[in-house]
Amino acid sequence: YIRKISVLVGLAPLAMACGMSAAAAQTVLTVTHSSPADSHFGDAAVAFKDVLEGGTDGSVSVVIQRLDNEREALESVQLGSQECAIGSTGPLGNFVPETRVLDVPFLFNDYAHARGVLDGEIGQNLLAALSNYGLEGVAWLENGFRSLTTGSRLVESPEDLRGMKIRTMENPIHMQAWEAAGVLPTPMAFSELPSALQQGTVDGQENPIPVILSNNLDMMQQHLYLTRHVYSPGILVCNPDFVASLDDTQRAALTQAGAAAAAANRARVEKDETAGIETLRKRGIDVREVENRDAYREAMAGANAGFESEFGAETLQRIRNWS
Ligand code: PAF
Repeated sequence: YIRKISVLVGLAPLAMACGMSAAAAQTVLTVTHSSPADSHFGDAAVAFKDVLEGGTDGSVSVVIQRLDNEREALESVQLGSQECAIGSTGPLGNFVPETRVLDVPFLFNDYAHARGVLDGEIGQNLLAALSNYGLEGVAWLENGFRSLTTGSRLVESPEDLRGMKIRTMENPIHMQAWEAAGVLPTPMAFSELPSALQQGTVDGQENPIPVILSNNLDMMQQHLYLTRHVYSPGILVCNPDFVASLDDTQRAALTQAGAAAAAANRARVEKDETAGIETLRKRGIDVREVENRDAYREAMAGANAGFESEFGAETLQRIRNWS
């Protein structure tokens, strides 16, 4: 499936006339991402393409596509029917269980904390763990801190959420936390969310500001509560056989392109977090600061014993205490 189109020996004179060596090959890499082109993931994909194509003198050509079913994207990368994908860790823990720890609610205090952990030993070891599951982790990106939105039903405190159906990612950690808060978590791929909101199959959903903005979720929801209950990491993954098929220069360029994707992605998340809330207010959604985020922390606390037995209290403490 991995497309590598060799320049035929018979075309060597033409290739040389165009400044390419006779042995040059054109490798085509498709990278999908799960948000619109004008978004934190779209910016990451463009930076990835620019640096990879530039760093390989065009011997690797990058095709960017949108695929908003992140589970399908990971399956395709694992199978090799697409080379790379950018997405959240939503479904990743179902492929690489070690990474689930990053999805624990209220684990990170702010962006500096989350980025520090991902860029440090813990995050880099988790990225390396992907190779045990037929995936190559190239770089940690981010989706942002997730906040709750609802349609007509107003939530003034976590108690109001009891019995409500909230769409979650296909992520058991998120589901356990919401269940502890008395919510009926309804997992589905993002591609199914607009119709679920429009048909009232769910009462609300939760996503970071960059996602709400770029997908116009405010058009389908009435209230946005800045709960920031969980940091949602992003990741750039590639197919390991594809990476192994690259030469040394191309592999080095891939690493640089991953770093450029992370930088562009984080810069856009910061911009969306700073300006985006005001934009959303102006567009008309009722934006509510959550003074008492601890009430959400406490509402989800019933899931903590399960998280401690799955990940170990010490590991969770090491992440919480990072500085
Ligand atoms: O809610 C989700 O599924 C994810 O946050 C999304 C929108 C696909 C971006 O990673």
